[in-house]
Amino acid sequence: MRYLTSGESHGPQLTVIIEGVPANLEIHAADINEEMFKRQGGYGRGRRMQIEKDSVEIVSGVRNGYTLGSPITLIVTNDDFKHWRKIMGADPISDEDQENMKRVITKPRPGHADLIGGMKYNHRDLRNVLERSSARETAARVAVGAVSKILLKQLDIHFYSRVMEIGGIKDDLAYDLETIKSNIDKNDVRVINDDIAQQMRDKIDDAKKAGDTIGGVVQTIIEGVPIGIGSYVHYDRKLDGRIAQGVVSINAFKGVSFGEGFKAAEKPGSEIQDEILYDTNNGYYRGSNHLGGFEGGMSNGMPIVVNGVMKPIPTLYKPLNSVDINTKESFKASVERSDSCAVPAASVVVENVVAFELAKALLEEFQCNHIEQLKSQIEERRLLNIEY
Ligand SMILES: Cc1cc2nc3c(=O)[nH]c(=O)nc-3n(C[C@H](O)[C@H](O)[C@H](O)COP(=O)(O)O)c2cc1C
Repeated sequence: MRYLTSGESHGPQLTVIIEGVPANLEIHAADINEEMFKRQGGYGRGRRMQIEKDSVEIVSGVRNGYTLGSPITLIVTNDDFKHWRKIMGADPISDEDQENMKRVITKPRPGHADLIGGMKYNHRDLRNVLERSSARETAARVAVGAVSKILLKQLDIHFYSRVMEIGGIKDDLAYDLETIKSNIDKNDVRVINDDIAQQMRDKIDDAKKAGDTIGGVVQTIIEGVPIGIGSYVHYDRKLDGRIAQGVVSINAFKGVSFGEGFKAAEKPGSEIQDEILYDTNNGYYRGSNHLGGFEGGMSNGMPIVVNGVMKPIPTLYKPLNSVDINTKESFKASVERSDSCAVPAASVVVENVVAFELAKALLEEFQCNHIEQLKSQIEERRLLNIEY
């Protein structure tokens, strides 16, 4: 399974082509849209998300609600494009129009791709960089993740995501999985504890008032992953490594960990390795899940626990020093419309990015022309955990 996204933030549409999804999988645009809608929400988001109402149109690979095994193409229309037709359209624009609209960007924003992207691709209008480097692209990645999750659900693999920290306020108690499952999406910051949710909203409001932004930590948990997905044999087939790459490739993500993650550095080995147990109904299992479901780059049958760190959003209302690329004069980087905190939304992005990495690894592991074939092989793998 692989995919390619295309589209600029204020262009006509985002497009994604996904290849390798097995045939005969039931897919409805409405299920993908539910995930798209979640990405748009969350306390602290700016005006763009009120303009766009993201929904996908499926234009290939699905017939009468079922996949054909051919590439699936999804389109997300940018409603805002109508205001940007001249500036962002494919047709040439006259110098006069360009001048009248005064939309050429020569002031790179710190923390964005603007300056280095301009140098690298030889652009003098930094809009050519920011249109593609924008996190708008994550809408397309969520659409891919939603398709992946539909597939994985058929295999009894389920996803849960939440926010664990915003601007230093933490909801990181060691909740059991049942508590997490029954408290998903209960509030607009996506945390379990409602008191902490309010403290986080206050923190976001304070940051906004101060013209500042804040980041945080998010978590994705996957239940039902069969053992042995990934491999210890080659570095580029280790599933934890692939998930890490996927998460850090999301705009503004600066770190990833599994299970207890960085806390493992402080603890003795006896408190970090998960002891191996066996019962006749379920086979091998672990007495704990400190390692977050991975040993040797392979799933070990315990829930996979992925944590991701998001930096504060770089566009601030409180301006930062930068340099105009035409005049070389210093100026204070001013704001385009922006979120003050996108951590809740980003938790949805991480969940979907992880879903794609898992689906991809699973489809490499098994023969998978059609969903029935895949299901029976997954069943066999689950039995292996009992019979081995
Ligand atoms: C869901 C989401 C929403 C974001 N919204 C904004 C935003 O409104 N303004 C902004 O400056 N950056 C936003 N970002 C972050 C930037 O896209 C990102 O920091 C930038 O592309 C530079 O990439 P880097 O931080 O990975 O180096 C958002 C990121 C995510 C995941």
